[in-house]
Amino acid sequence: MSRFYPESKVEIQGFSAKCYDTLINTASLGLYDKFIKKAIRLIEIKPDDTILDFGAGTGRNALLMQKYLTGTGEILGLEISEEMIAQFRKKTEKFSNISITNQRIDQPLTLEKKYDKVFTSFVFHGFPFEIQKNIISNAFNALKDGGEFVILDFNEFITDQTPLYFRIPFKIVECRYAFEYVERDWKQILTSYGFSSFNEKLFFNNHLRLLKAIKS
Ligand SMILES: C[S@@+](CC[C@H](N)C(=O)[O-])C[C@H]1O[C@@H](n2cnc3c(N)ncnc32)[C@H](O)[C@@H]1O
Repeated sequence: MSRFYPESKVEIQGFSAKCYDTLINTASLGLYDKFIKKAIRLIEIKPDDTILDFGAGTGRNALLMQKYLTGTGEILGLEISEEMIAQFRKKTEKFSNISITNQRIDQPLTLEKKYDKVFTSFVFHGFPFEIQKNIISNAFNALKDGGEFVILDFNEFITDQTPLYFRIPFKIVECRYAFEYVERDWKQILTSYGFSSFNEKLFFNNHLRLLKAIKS
Protein backbone atom coordinates (compact mmCIF):
# COMPACT_ATOMS: atom_id res chain seq x y z
CA MET A 1 0.00 0.00 0.00
CA SER A 2 1.43 3.39 -0.94
CA ARG A 3 1.45 6.20 1.60
CA PHE A 4 -1.13 9.00 1.40
CA TYR A 5 1.40 11.46 2.84
CA PRO A 6 4.79 10.17 1.63
CA GLU A 7 6.73 12.31 4.11
CA SER A 8 4.70 11.19 7.11
CA LYS A 9 6.05 8.66 9.58
CA VAL A 10 2.70 7.70 11.12
CA GLU A 11 1.48 5.62 8.16
CA ILE A 12 3.21 2.56 9.56
CA GLN A 13 3.38 -0.55 7.38
CA GLY A 14 5.02 -3.95 7.03
CA PHE A 15 7.55 -5.10 9.64
CA SER A 16 7.26 -1.87 11.68
CA ALA A 17 3.49 -2.32 11.92
CA LYS A 18 3.69 -6.04 12.71
CA CYS A 19 6.24 -5.49 15.49
CA TYR A 20 5.08 -2.01 16.56
CA ASP A 21 4.67 -2.61 20.30
CA THR A 22 7.97 -4.49 20.59
CA LEU A 23 9.81 -1.77 18.66
CA ILE A 24 8.39 0.96 20.93
CA ASN A 25 9.19 -0.99 24.09
CA THR A 26 12.74 -1.65 22.92
CA ALA A 27 13.42 1.88 21.64
CA SER A 28 12.19 3.34 24.93
CA LEU A 29 14.30 0.88 26.95
CA GLY A 30 11.11 -0.40 28.55
CA LEU A 31 9.98 3.04 29.77
CA TYR A 32 7.02 3.29 27.40
CA ASP A 33 4.90 0.75 29.26
CA LYS A 34 4.85 2.72 32.52
CA PHE A 35 4.37 5.99 30.66
CA ILE A 36 1.37 4.87 28.59
CA LYS A 37 -0.36 3.33 31.62
CA LYS A 38 0.05 6.59 33.51
CA ALA A 39 -1.09 8.74 30.58
CA ILE A 40 -4.23 6.64 30.09
CA ARG A 41 -5.01 6.78 33.82
CA LEU A 42 -4.77 10.58 33.61
CA ILE A 43 -7.46 10.70 30.91
CA GLU A 44 -9.88 9.97 33.80
CA ILE A 45 -12.14 7.67 31.79
CA LYS A 46 -15.59 7.16 33.29
CA PRO A 47 -17.26 3.69 33.41
CA ASP A 48 -19.85 4.59 30.77
CA ASP A 49 -17.64 6.58 28.43
CA THR A 50 -17.91 5.92 24.72
CA ILE A 51 -14.48 6.46 23.17
CA LEU A 52 -13.26 6.83 19.61
CA ASP A 53 -9.57 6.00 19.18
CA PHE A 54 -8.17 7.85 16.13
CA GLY A 55 -5.28 5.84 14.64
CA ALA A 56 -5.82 3.07 17.17
CA GLY A 57 -2.73 0.98 16.36
CA THR A 58 -2.33 -2.51 17.83
CA GLY A 59 -5.06 -2.25 20.49
CA ARG A 60 -2.60 -1.74 23.33
CA ASN A 61 -4.21 1.57 24.28
CA ALA A 62 -7.75 0.21 23.86
CA LEU A 63 -6.96 -2.58 26.33
CA LEU A 64 -5.61 -0.07 28.85
CA MET A 65 -8.67 2.16 28.43
CA GLN A 66 -11.02 -0.84 28.70
CA LYS A 67 -9.91 -1.32 32.34
CA TYR A 68 -11.76 1.86 33.27
CA LEU A 69 -14.96 0.90 31.42
CA THR A 70 -16.86 -1.00 34.05
CA GLY A 71 -20.28 0.22 32.89
CA THR A 72 -21.78 0.54 29.43
CA GLY A 73 -18.66 2.16 28.02
CA GLU A 74 -17.21 1.18 24.65
CA ILE A 75 -14.26 1.85 22.39
CA LEU A 76 -14.23 2.10 18.60
CA GLY A 77 -10.83 2.27 16.94
CA LEU A 78 -10.38 3.94 13.54
CA GLU A 79 -7.34 2.66 11.69
CA ILE A 80 -6.03 2.22 8.15
CA SER A 81 -3.27 -0.36 8.51
CA GLU A 82 -4.38 -3.96 7.98
CA GLU A 83 -1.41 -5.15 10.09
CA MET A 84 -2.51 -2.94 12.97
CA ILE A 85 -6.18 -3.89 12.59
CA ALA A 86 -5.31 -7.61 12.76
CA GLN A 87 -3.34 -7.12 15.99
CA PHE A 88 -6.07 -4.92 17.46
CA ARG A 89 -8.73 -7.57 16.76
CA LYS A 90 -6.62 -10.37 18.26
CA LYS A 91 -5.70 -8.40 21.39
CA THR A 92 -9.23 -7.22 22.11
CA GLU A 93 -11.29 -10.24 20.96
CA LYS A 94 -12.43 -11.04 24.53
CA PHE A 95 -14.16 -7.69 24.86
CA SER A 96 -17.50 -7.19 23.14
CA ASN A 97 -17.36 -3.46 23.87
CA ILE A 98 -14.17 -2.92 21.79
CA SER A 99 -14.21 -2.82 18.01
CA ILE A 100 -12.20 -1.41 15.14
CA THR A 101 -13.00 -0.26 11.66
CA ASN A 102 -10.90 0.55 8.61
CA GLN A 103 -11.50 4.29 8.41
CA ARG A 104 -9.26 7.26 7.66
CA ILE A 105 -9.35 9.98 10.32
CA ASP A 106 -8.27 12.70 7.88
CA GLN A 107 -11.35 12.42 5.68
CA PRO A 108 -14.99 13.15 6.57
CA LEU A 109 -16.31 10.54 9.01
CA THR A 110 -19.70 8.87 8.83
CA LEU A 111 -20.43 7.71 12.36
CA GLU A 112 -23.71 6.41 13.68
CA LYS A 113 -23.56 8.32 16.96
CA LYS A 114 -21.70 10.90 19.03
CA TYR A 115 -18.97 9.97 21.52
CA ASP A 116 -17.87 11.13 25.00
CA LYS A 117 -14.20 11.12 24.12
CA VAL A 118 -12.00 11.15 21.04
CA PHE A 119 -8.52 9.89 21.92
CA THR A 120 -5.52 10.02 19.63
CA SER A 121 -2.05 8.88 20.61
CA PHE A 122 1.07 9.71 18.58
CA VAL A 123 -0.84 10.11 15.34
CA PHE A 124 -1.80 13.79 15.11
CA HIS A 125 1.73 15.19 14.70
CA GLY A 126 2.25 13.22 11.51
CA PHE A 127 -0.01 15.15 9.12
CA PRO A 128 0.27 18.42 7.17
CA PHE A 129 -1.34 21.36 9.00
CA GLU A 130 -4.31 21.58 6.58
CA ILE A 131 -5.03 17.90 7.26
CA GLN A 132 -4.67 18.33 11.03
CA LYS A 133 -7.49 20.88 10.72
CA ASN A 134 -9.69 18.17 9.11
CA ILE A 135 -8.87 15.83 11.99
CA ILE A 136 -9.85 18.48 14.55
CA SER A 137 -13.16 19.02 12.72
CA ASN A 138 -13.75 15.26 12.65
CA ALA A 139 -13.11 15.05 16.40
CA PHE A 140 -15.40 18.01 17.06
CA ASN A 141 -18.24 16.57 14.95
CA ALA A 142 -17.85 13.11 16.51
CA LEU A 143 -18.14 14.40 20.08
CA LYS A 144 -21.23 15.01 22.19
CA ASP A 145 -21.55 18.54 23.59
CA GLY A 146 -19.21 18.62 26.57
CA GLY A 147 -17.23 15.69 25.15
CA GLU A 148 -13.46 15.64 25.32
CA PHE A 149 -10.74 15.57 22.65
CA VAL A 150 -7.67 13.93 24.19
CA ILE A 151 -4.38 14.26 22.32
CA LEU A 152 -1.38 12.31 23.57
CA ASP A 153 1.58 13.46 21.52
CA PHE A 154 4.64 15.69 21.52
CA ASN A 155 4.44 18.86 23.58
CA GLU A 156 5.10 22.29 22.07
CA PHE A 157 8.77 23.32 21.98
CA ILE A 158 11.48 24.91 19.86
CA THR A 159 13.34 21.86 18.60
CA ASP A 160 16.72 23.58 18.48
CA GLN A 161 16.38 24.51 22.16
CA THR A 162 15.76 20.94 23.34
CA PRO A 163 18.59 18.93 24.92
CA LEU A 164 20.71 16.87 22.54
CA TYR A 165 19.57 13.53 24.01
CA PHE A 166 16.07 14.40 22.79
CA ARG A 167 16.83 16.55 19.75
CA ILE A 168 19.03 14.05 17.90
CA PRO A 169 16.62 11.07 17.95
CA PHE A 170 13.65 13.42 17.35
CA LYS A 171 15.29 14.81 14.21
CA ILE A 172 16.32 11.35 12.99
CA VAL A 173 13.03 9.58 13.64
CA GLU A 174 10.41 12.25 12.97
CA CYS A 175 9.18 13.99 9.82
CA ARG A 176 8.80 17.64 8.88
CA TYR A 177 5.12 17.63 9.91
CA ALA A 178 6.22 16.78 13.45
CA PHE A 179 8.84 19.57 13.38
CA GLU A 180 6.07 22.02 12.43
CA TYR A 181 3.58 20.49 14.89
CA VAL A 182 5.74 21.09 17.97
CA GLU A 183 6.10 24.78 17.15
CA ARG A 184 2.37 25.56 16.90
CA ASP A 185 0.06 26.89 19.62
CA TRP A 186 -2.47 24.05 19.74
CA LYS A 187 -4.69 25.50 22.47
CA GLN A 188 -5.21 28.59 20.33
CA ILE A 189 -5.91 26.48 17.23
CA LEU A 190 -8.32 24.19 19.10
CA THR A 191 -10.08 27.23 20.57
CA SER A 192 -10.80 28.47 17.03
CA TYR A 193 -12.52 25.10 16.35
CA GLY A 194 -14.81 25.37 19.40
CA PHE A 195 -12.75 23.63 22.10
CA SER A 196 -12.05 25.13 25.55
CA SER A 197 -11.25 24.24 29.20
CA PHE A 198 -7.83 22.81 28.43
CA ASN A 199 -6.06 20.52 30.85
CA GLU A 200 -2.57 19.21 30.20
CA LYS A 201 -0.11 16.78 31.78
CA LEU A 202 3.52 16.73 30.71
CA PHE A 203 5.95 13.80 30.61
CA PHE A 204 9.61 13.06 29.86
CA ASN A 205 11.06 16.41 30.75
CA ASN A 206 8.04 18.17 29.16
CA HIS A 207 8.64 16.73 25.69
CA LEU A 208 5.38 14.76 25.63
CA ARG A 209 1.91 16.00 26.52
CA LEU A 210 -1.55 14.68 27.28
CA LEU A 211 -3.82 17.55 26.22
CA LYS A 212 -7.53 17.42 27.05
CA ALA A 213 -9.94 19.89 25.42
CA ILE A 214 -13.69 20.12 25.94
CA LYS A 215 -16.17 20.62 23.08
CA SER A 216 -18.01 23.72 24.25
C1 LIG B 1 2.56 5.96 15.58
S1 LIG B 1 1.22 4.86 15.39
C2 LIG B 1 0.35 5.06 16.93
C3 LIG B 1 -0.59 3.93 17.20
C4 LIG B 1 -1.38 4.05 18.51
N1 LIG B 1 -2.20 5.22 18.53
C5 LIG B 1 -0.45 4.05 19.68
O1 LIG B 1 -0.33 5.06 20.37
O2 LIG B 1 0.14 2.98 19.95
C6 LIG B 1 0.20 5.75 14.25
C7 LIG B 1 -1.06 4.98 13.85
O3 LIG B 1 -1.91 5.82 13.10
C8 LIG B 1 -2.45 5.07 12.02
N2 LIG B 1 -2.80 6.02 10.97
C9 LIG B 1 -1.98 6.76 10.20
N3 LIG B 1 -2.66 7.53 9.36
C10 LIG B 1 -3.97 7.30 9.60
C11 LIG B 1 -5.19 7.80 9.05
N4 LIG B 1 -5.18 8.71 8.07
N5 LIG B 1 -6.36 7.33 9.55
C12 LIG B 1 -6.37 6.40 10.53
N6 LIG B 1 -5.26 5.88 11.10
C13 LIG B 1 -4.08 6.33 10.64
C14 LIG B 1 -1.30 4.15 11.63
O4 LIG B 1 -1.72 3.05 10.86
C15 LIG B 1 -0.76 3.77 13.00
O5 LIG B 1 -1.40 2.65 13.53
